[in-house]
Amino acid sequence: MIHPPEVSNLDVLSEALRRRTFAVISHPDAGKSTLTEALLLHAHAIDKAGAVHGKAGRRGTVSDWMAMEQARGISVTSAAIQFDYRDTVINLVDTPGHADFSEDTFRVLSAVDAAVMLVDASKGLEVQTMKLFDVCRQRGLPVITVINKWDRPGEDALALMDEIRARTGLIPTPLTWPVGISGDFRGVLDRRSGDYVRYTRTPGGATAAVEDRFSPADAETAEGDAWVTASEESSLLRVEGQDHDEARFLAGETTPVLFCAAVLNFGVQQLLETLVESAPPAEARADIAGRRRPVNAAFSGFVFKVQSGMNAAHRDHVAFVRVCSGVFHRGMVVTHAASGRPFATKYAQQMFGQERKTADEAWPGDVVGLINAASLRVGDSLYDQDPVEFPPMPLFAPEHFRVAHPADSSKHKQFRRGIDQLDHEGVIQVMRSELRGDQAPVLGAVGPMQFEVVEDRMTHDFGAAIRLEALPYQLARRTDRESAEILGHDRQVEVLLRSDGTLLALFSTPWRLRNTVRDHPELTLEDLATGS
Ligand code: G4P
Repeated sequence: MIHPPEVSNLDVLSEALRRRTFAVISHPDAGKSTLTEALLLHAHAIDKAGAVHGKAGRRGTVSDWMAMEQARGISVTSAAIQFDYRDTVINLVDTPGHADFSEDTFRVLSAVDAAVMLVDASKGLEVQTMKLFDVCRQRGLPVITVINKWDRPGEDALALMDEIRARTGLIPTPLTWPVGISGDFRGVLDRRSGDYVRYTRTPGGATAAVEDRFSPADAETAEGDAWVTASEESSLLRVEGQDHDEARFLAGETTPVLFCAAVLNFGVQQLLETLVESAPPAEARADIAGRRRPVNAAFSGFVFKVQSGMNAAHRDHVAFVRVCSGVFHRGMVVTHAASGRPFATKYAQQMFGQERKTADEAWPGDVVGLINAASLRVGDSLYDQDPVEFPPMPLFAPEHFRVAHPADSSKHKQFRRGIDQLDHEGVIQVMRSELRGDQAPVLGAVGPMQFEVVEDRMTHDFGAAIRLEALPYQLARRTDRESAEILGHDRQVEVLLRSDGTLLALFSTPWRLRNTVRDHPELTLEDLATGS
């Protein structure tokens, strides 16, 4: 038994206060990997950018960070990158960069305290950004908006603000305003000081851009009309009440906006400053009963992501835990709330570096990876001393459905074990019905990429290759036994039991669902879109 050093309440409070834990939400190609790298560069966590710009050589599946990890030798277990900026510890939690959705992406948002919504200036708010934004809104997460690729011709800045307001309901309150239209990015007007920050690109954008500050008068001399337009637009925003207000931002009413060109490292410094100054620190989290557990209570945390086989050499099983309160010491024995059993955290690994680094200590807001954690599921709570259970992880409404069959019927044991394990890890939702039988579970996913992960894992981790048969459903609704009985007579609707005990009715089209509701208004058909 390792005895942790004494830690005072004050230590925990001050460590929690200097944490900023966030995720980037964006549509693929908006520049998330480029921005991540630019942040690391500006925080001096790396000294040169450029290794991961672009898609060349990327496998495009698992995670964009995999490519970054391969290119740089960054720890493959990273679910979060941690770096220091000024006196602040920043935890950037990875949202898997799949070309489409997976539930992972949504769950990550339960582990963060804020989100950065990254928007491509020429595309505006794209589909996946909006889906992720909806989850942020449900979770009440403060959102900072970053308009990227201002160096490329794109939309008008004011038009983008209107779009944000109309589609998210948040009032955009720009902290910086671009000088020069999209495609002619010269710098930004710092709306709080009134100064002009001029950017000068460095060769290949590999190092931090040079920033020069000018007074408004000098800015006008230097940039002429571009400056005049920027300051007029900024005044207009002020008149419209679109100045940053910290309380309204934290309350989820407004979104501070920054303009940047991640690939040139323009505007990245301002994002770091905004995270430090405005993003919330790690704060008390509500448990399942709605009681807020103070950050300086004894250690507690919850699993938001489980991964296996990330390291080919040791086929390990890592549970990523967000620390909610107290201090985590490697080696401490905590309690697994679901089973009441002790869990030894001897092998806590984490974070950022050439190799897996061992986490000796972690504080509220941090993420630790617990190795050999096969007993831990997504959503499980862990605690020391005072029991606590955090709310369960929401299960999102599946939109894609496939029947899984073992490719080799003699492998039915491996098949069953593999499907159960992937269900347990939250890789896929598993549904069954008497009609289909045990050997033909229906898999449900939020994004079709999840099926590729299942196929790959079943073959390589469980030695049970599978064949997937597509089902024509697009929508799922929660139902009950009585309604299921009636729906059972409709040959176009299928009712299945999800492994969490929820009965799901599957419909092929919204039109079919509407007709069913119209013909049978008495049926229970609840929306699953908000999770659970
Ligand atoms: P993602 O992780 O969100 O999917 O995006 P990623 O960073 O991979 O960036 C997608 C593309 O957008 C890349 O171009 C990247 O270089 C480019 N990009 C990112 N930020 C900016 C920016 O601020 N300005 C401009 N002009 N481009 C940006 P690519 O064509 O895929 O590769 P490459 O040929 O540029 O290397």
